[in-house]
Amino acid sequence: MINAFLFDLDGVLVDTAVFHYQAWRRMANSLGFDFTHEFNETLKGISRMDSLDRILALGGVTLSDEKKLELAAQKNEWYLELVSQMTPDDILPGALGFLEQTKRAGIRVALGSVSKNAPLILERVGITHLFDALIDGSKITNSKPDPEVFLKGAAELNVAPAECIVFEDAVAGVEAAKRGGMFAVGIGTPDVLTEADLVVPNLEHLTIPELRAAVDRAQG
Ligand code: G6P
Ligand code: MG
Repeated sequence: MINAFLFDLDGVLVDTAVFHYQAWRRMANSLGFDFTHEFNETLKGISRMDSLDRILALGGVTLSDEKKLELAAQKNEWYLELVSQMTPDDILPGALGFLEQTKRAGIRVALGSVSKNAPLILERVGITHLFDALIDGSKITNSKPDPEVFLKGAAELNVAPAECIVFEDAVAGVEAAKRGGMFAVGIGTPDVLTEADLVVPNLEHLTIPELRAAVDRAQG
């Protein structure tokens, strides 16, 4: 029985995954190197400081903790410049309709994002009121693929993990959902999100009866 949906934010409900990519690349370029789209896939769902460590390791750059904090703050400033131009039009195709369909079906809704900017972004695009619980980067100690963010979401909604569906665009996020004992819907392509129980390109044509049927099939 499915009673709750847990949504990642960046790349699932809004297109901010692209902004993270642009801001991190700008930072890498300022240090004299670049990284690919494939490498960027490994950063999705990973906290700000862990992402920075991975990028610096890729570029072979070693820095003091103080300098690292400075770079992380700079990246966030560049990221927020992009976010400041967002409007409700930046909600990804189908996401708003799907959230509304979810509410009408009486399914509880939580956000499960590693981003500390998540509450600000929800406000900017005007969808905060659609959530029964908000778990963001300020409420967790372990970033995805640790299941903490989704287990906290389920606990706050008072729903068992097996009654939850997670919606995720990140490889690390799908792994977090599976480690938490939840059904994982990947938003993207099956060649990248290999561990997801179901993969769709976006939330546009997804229906709740179809999802319930997929969960029934998976649970045998
Ligand atoms: C999400 C994104 C990551 C980002 C992380 C922290 O998980 O997928 O790309 O690094 O949030 O975001 P923040 O807004 O706190 O820097
Ligand atoms: Mg994401």
